Amino acid sequence: MHGFWCLVLAVLLHGVSSAPNQQTPLQGSVVQRPDSRRPLQGRFLHVTDFHPDRFYEVYTSTAEDAACHRGQGPAGMYGAETSECDSPISLINETMTWIEHNLKDKIDFVIWTGDSARHDNDEDIPRNAAQVVGSNEMMVQKMFEVFGKHNGDEDDDDPNNDYTVPIIPSFGNNDILPHNVMAKGPNTWTRTYSRIWRQFIPEAQKHQFEQGGWYNVEVIPNKLAVFSLNTLYFADNNAAVDGCASPSEPGYRQLEWMRIQLQFMRDRGVKAILTGHQPPVRQDAKTLWDETCWQKYTLWLRQYRDVIISSHYGHFNYDHFLLQDFEDLDEDTKRGRMEDSSEDNAPISATETDDVHTSVSSDYWLELRETWSDLPKPPKSMTWPEGESGVDVAQKKKKSAAKKERRKRAKFLSKIGGTHAERFAASFISASVVPNLFPTTRVFEYNTTGLESPLAHGRTKTPPLAQKGELNENDLDARKKNKKHRFKIPDPPSKSTPPGPAYSPQTLSLLRYTQYYANITHINNDFPSENTSDASAQGWNEGKHKGKKPHNKDHEPQPKKFHFQVHYDTRDDDVYQLPDLTMPRLVDLARRIGDFKPVEDDEMVRPESEALLSGESAMADKKKKKHKKKHGKPGKHTKRNLPWYTFMRRAFVETKPIEEIEEQFGH
Ligand SMILES: *[C@@H]1O[C@H](CO)[C@@H](O)[C@H](O)[C@H]1NC(C)=O
Ligand SMILES: *[C@@H]1O[C@H](CO)[C@@H](O)[C@H](O)[C@H]1NC(C)=O
Ligand SMILES: *[C@@H]1O[C@H](CO)[C@@H](O)[C@H](O)[C@H]1NC(C)=O
Ligand SMILES: *[C@@H]1O[C@H](CO)[C@@H](O)[C@H](O)[C@H]1NC(C)=O
Repeated sequence: MHGFWCLVLAVLLHGVSSAPNQQTPLQGSVVQRPDSRRPLQGRFLHVTDFHPDRFYEVYTSTAEDAACHRGQGPAGMYGAETSECDSPISLINETMTWIEHNLKDKIDFVIWTGDSARHDNDEDIPRNAAQVVGSNEMMVQKMFEVFGKHNGDEDDDDPNNDYTVPIIPSFGNNDILPHNVMAKGPNTWTRTYSRIWRQFIPEAQKHQFEQGGWYNVEVIPNKLAVFSLNTLYFADNNAAVDGCASPSEPGYRQLEWMRIQLQFMRDRGVKAILTGHQPPVRQDAKTLWDETCWQKYTLWLRQYRDVIISSHYGHFNYDHFLLQDFEDLDEDTKRGRMEDSSEDNAPISATETDDVHTSVSSDYWLELRETWSDLPKPPKSMTWPEGESGVDVAQKKKKSAAKKERRKRAKFLSKIGGTHAERFAASFISASVVPNLFPTTRVFEYNTTGLESPLAHGRTKTPPLAQKGELNENDLDARKKNKKHRFKIPDPPSKSTPPGPAYSPQTLSLLRYTQYYANITHINNDFPSENTSDASAQGWNEGKHKGKKPHNKDHEPQPKKFHFQVHYDTRDDDVYQLPDLTMPRLVDLARRIGDFKPVEDDEMVRPESEALLSGESAMADKKKKKHKKKHGKPGKHTKRNLPWYTFMRRAFVETKPIEEIEEQFGH
């Protein structure tokens, strides 16, 4: 125990390792990077869930017992879209090549949120440690091919200088064996990854990484740090740990490390981006974290809302986002005490542990919408999130009316936590590279105003440790005796601190993200006539080509050139139209998505009456009519319902036919 905290302190004292001094001339509007690594571009890349699979073979079966390893079936050159097969190496290679050609020089750092090994989904070829490690080493090699400096000094003393940009990987639940289960460190896995990721983990944090698999990197020294969290210690299906209440749990320690680090960042004026694999999903239909971890983490988000810019996760494969509501914090949590995880020793259901894939029922989405439908609507007299420009209108009215308007606005603002919506925090969840839907990747843009300031040059002296002695052995021992563990509540932002970059547009605030996808149905070019078969969410998913006549094994694939295309951009988008990604914007988007109203027969968008489709079977005809009666013309939505349908189409990366989306989510 003592050694552990010494290491935390050692890390604090050392700060980050320095980068070499290679001046790059300022170009255009790009900003000179304080550490002179190269000019800042104001963008970063998020990639996740590569799941490379060396056993993947083209034109094998996507059925559960084959997993694209054998048999005859529709498995394409660059993957079997919408199936539960893993990624062929060709997809990994082409994805990295595309990143090299299109993004490499346009980004400042890479967040890479885990799962760089195949799933344990084939009984005939069980995974072993060598494969899982080898697969991860291969992905590091691919990163090096694209982002390596290749300047010949890879073997020098400072491995943190071998890349043109910082790369921040994190543990996925499939990066270890058996999947999902990681005991307290140091252990074989934390040691192994300390070696595999030696070029990414700052030297001074190496020992601490071996303790728990978490670390952070100052991607812009003295300005911006990226935290890599080991969410395996928060996950409620990790049978080797038990939540975050007890000081002996690695989840507790990770949160203590986060608290100390975030406080340290606050003291130095550094902002933070949090990254990890499993997102803090917490719904009846799906919960991924132990509640004790969720409670503390969310309290940290609230207390450090002046420091934390955003959080980014993978694992879930569906493109979406979550709002964490600080009103979901328990009274006990807010008072700094917590009982051990209530599911203590509760048997984990077989489906939880055996479940290698993350499939969710439609309830998950409907529940999300339900929660968001409770978000209050701003009064008409108020333009929000722009500001309170309704005041003038109100002033022109009678005094009493103006008073009423003001009261309405005050009520609205109190519900969302004021003009900056500080009742919430957001988690961005990216879809995967593995084509459970289509392969995706995303690029965030952030505000670099002022980062070129000469003041940013050079390293500021590490300040004295304010946190020293905050947690000592006696405290820990005392806690063990209580049923309720006491913990230190992080300080809130000081009263004089303005809202942080997550809440009001400023330097380092996120401005937008651009979502990319590769339409591998088109690129694989195996099934020219599009034919969708409905893929059920239950059990193994064989994908959209299930039942189609596949090519023979000896067929020569005729793929088109692999590329990603823009799926949508949160700013240049007809529906989302987000000027930036600060909380008022996100809360407003969530409210618009939640504001769904099922279309009634009498008010549905009636299509022009069409000559009814001759030549089709009576059955299909009837089905179409029924669908039409219920939902209107497929894909035609009221203005009010457009945000919801758009959100759902994007969640499934446009792989789900709109009729199915309407059928499943249109009520
Ligand atoms: C993928 O790239 C590696 C080099 O990183 C190469 O050795 C391998 O042959 C490539 N495989 C495929 C299927 O393209
Ligand atoms: C970027 O940050 C600057 C400085 O805080 C601010 O003035 C500006 O409005 C921000 N830009 C955007 C587009 O939000
Ligand atoms: C993907 O490609 C297929 C085949 O070309 C096409 O039918 C389908 O509409 C495309 N989907 C998207 C979302 O672009
Ligand atoms: C498309 O689906 C229909 C019915 O599901 C099937 O009869 C037909 O053979 C399929 N066409 C192709 C090209 O796979």
